Amino acid sequence: MNRNIVVIEGDGIGPEVTRQALKVLNAIADQFNHEFNYRYCLMGADAIDKTGSPLPDETIEAALNSDAILFGAIGHPKYDNDPTAKIRPEQGLLKLRKSLQLFANIRPIIAYPSLHHLSPLKTKNLEDVDFVIYRELTGGIYFGNKSTNPEGTIAQDDCIYSREEIERISHLAFKQAQKRRKKLTLVDKANVLETSRLWRKVVKEISTAYPDVALDFLFVDNAAMQIILNPKQFDVILTENMFGDIISDEASVISGSLGLLPSASIGSGSALFEPIHGSYPQAAGKDIANPLGSILSAAMMLDHFSLHREAGLIRNAANWTLQNGFVTKDIDPVNFYFTSTIGELISDFVSNKITVDVNKENIELRKSTII
Ligand code: IPM
Ligand code: MN
Repeated sequence: MNRNIVVIEGDGIGPEVTRQALKVLNAIADQFNHEFNYRYCLMGADAIDKTGSPLPDETIEAALNSDAILFGAIGHPKYDNDPTAKIRPEQGLLKLRKSLQLFANIRPIIAYPSLHHLSPLKTKNLEDVDFVIYRELTGGIYFGNKSTNPEGTIAQDDCIYSREEIERISHLAFKQAQKRRKKLTLVDKANVLETSRLWRKVVKEISTAYPDVALDFLFVDNAAMQIILNPKQFDVILTENMFGDIISDEASVISGSLGLLPSASIGSGSALFEPIHGSYPQAAGKDIANPLGSILSAAMMLDHFSLHREAGLIRNAANWTLQNGFVTKDIDPVNFYFTSTIGELISDFVSNKITVDVNKENIELRKSTII
């Protein structure tokens, strides 16, 4: 298979984690005879520094003509501390989502048994947690009209949804539920919001085409509580843009480290894959960030290309590192491995250079030679 991938390393730890994902993708390409062509583009604070724009036209053009985009992270403290800045890194990501019509953001949440102790939740609530959030990504309050009155005393953000916007992501979420445990929960605020009432109506109608999927509804405030109290009740969660932003960060604590979680943003054309962690500027350039979020995002990209065997191999490799204690500082602050070492171990696993019954001492030795 031949695929054109736009690589946007982005800000903070973005470049170093993305490099590990590329190592792993290259190992997959060698092993399975694929050809992945990379084109590097700019977005975010890095793009503002270099071009004055958070999303240069060249990046949009390249992204539109690509099969997929692998993205690192966005954001820089100099903008976070100034919310009034006219040009902001995040504008780049929002504009890219809109330009490519990436209407569905998919975030799988898994609680890895070897990491249960890192989660703020009790272990008994973490067993068998495995759900996926489908967040609408190009509508709602994020993209409605925004205004402030001339006096600067009243501000407004409109929340708008059309039937079509709800339908297209709902079909994806129902199809996913059919492949999983056949349960879909719509998270909304239909007791208060008109847009939520439209979501309920449309999703109920669509559900008749998926009779094998059990549909239920939760108000977002209750959902926020249930995600902590009893996360294993969920299979597929479907929700609008703003609620999805909030509950997906909340759900991410279940896994024990934000550094582990991948995401996919898909539309009808090229799709974007990125770890859900931010740019983590304090760790930038130190080789200590967790590359698994980026590496597992690359696995989601391969699934998107229907390369399921290849994606599965990357997931096995990632599980193998976790189970054997080959982890970064966020997971074990005392005995930790470097970002680049984890990337190498996973690409070696993919290339069959590591057997499962490996003698750990060899890896320790290997670790000390690499570092
Ligand atoms: C995310 C981020 C973005 C969002 C920001 C960076 C605009 O928080 O991908 O969840 O709010 O969608
Ligand atoms: Mn967010």
